Amino acid sequence: SVVVPSVQDLVGKRILITGGGTREPLDPVRFIGNRSSGKQAVALAERALRRGANVTFIGAHLEVAAPSGVTLQEVSTAAEMQDAVMRLRNSMDIVIMAAAVSDFRAEDVSENKLKKDVTSEHLHLTLVKNPDILVELVKTKPQSQIIMGFAAETGEPGKSVLELGQAKIARKGCDFLVLNQVGWDQGFGTERNVVTVLDSTGDILSEVSGSKLAVADKVLDTFA
Ligand code: CTP
Ligand code: CA
Repeated sequence: SVVVPSVQDLVGKRILITGGGTREPLDPVRFIGNRSSGKQAVALAERALRRGANVTFIGAHLEVAAPSGVTLQEVSTAAEMQDAVMRLRNSMDIVIMAAAVSDFRAEDVSENKLKKDVTSEHLHLTLVKNPDILVELVKTKPQSQIIMGFAAETGEPGKSVLELGQAKIARKGCDFLVLNQVGWDQGFGTERNVVTVLDSTGDILSEVSGSKLAVADKVLDTFA
C-alpha cells in the first residue's frame, strides 16, 4: 500500500475517541439499538494516527474494523461505555465522543426470553434514562483537556438542525460540537458525510462535506 505523507501536527497528543452505537438488552436475545456504524469515528482514529496522535478507541458494535495502531476497547451498553470512558479519560489531551449512546435502557432486563402475550396487541416497556457521559466528562474534566461532542439531528418543525445543535452545545458545555443532519436515508452507514463544527458559543467554525476520511481530517484541524 502507498503511504501518503501528512502533517504530523498531533504528535504526542493522547486522544480518546468513542464510536459506534451502544445496545441495551431487553432479554437474552433482544436489544434496543441505533443505526450508528462507527465509520466516522474510525475515520477520525485513522487520520489522528496518521497525524501522529496516540489514539485510544472505545468501540460499540462497530460495522467496520478499528484501525490497527489504536488501543481498542470494545463495549456494548451505555453503562460499559461510561465505565471505559471514565477510566481512560484522565490522561487524555482530547476526548471525542462520536459514539451514539443509548439515551434509555430497560428498567428490568428479563432473565428469560420475553414471550408474546397472546391476549394483548401491545407490549409496554419501561425505560430509564442512562447517564449523559459527555455532560459528566465536561463537569469533571482535567484542566486543559479539550472535549468534542457529536450530534446527529433531523431537524423538527420550527427548529433547524443548526438551532438544535446550538442549543445542544449550550446544554452540554463541551468545547466543540460536530453537527450532522441525518434522516431515514441520510448519514448512517454511508461513505460520505456533511458536517458543521460549532465552537462552545455555537458559532460555526467550519463546514465540511466529503468522504468520512476527508471530514475526519477537517474535524481534526479544529485542534491544530
Ligand atoms: N452522549 C453521551 N451520553 C449519553 C447520550 C449522549 O455522552 N447518554 C453524547 C454523544 O456521544 C454525543 C453527544 O452526547 O457526543 C450528543 O448526543 P445526542 O444524542 O445528540 O444528545 P442528547 O443529549 O442525547 O439529546 P437528544 O435528545 O437529541 O438525543
Ligand atoms: Ca441521544
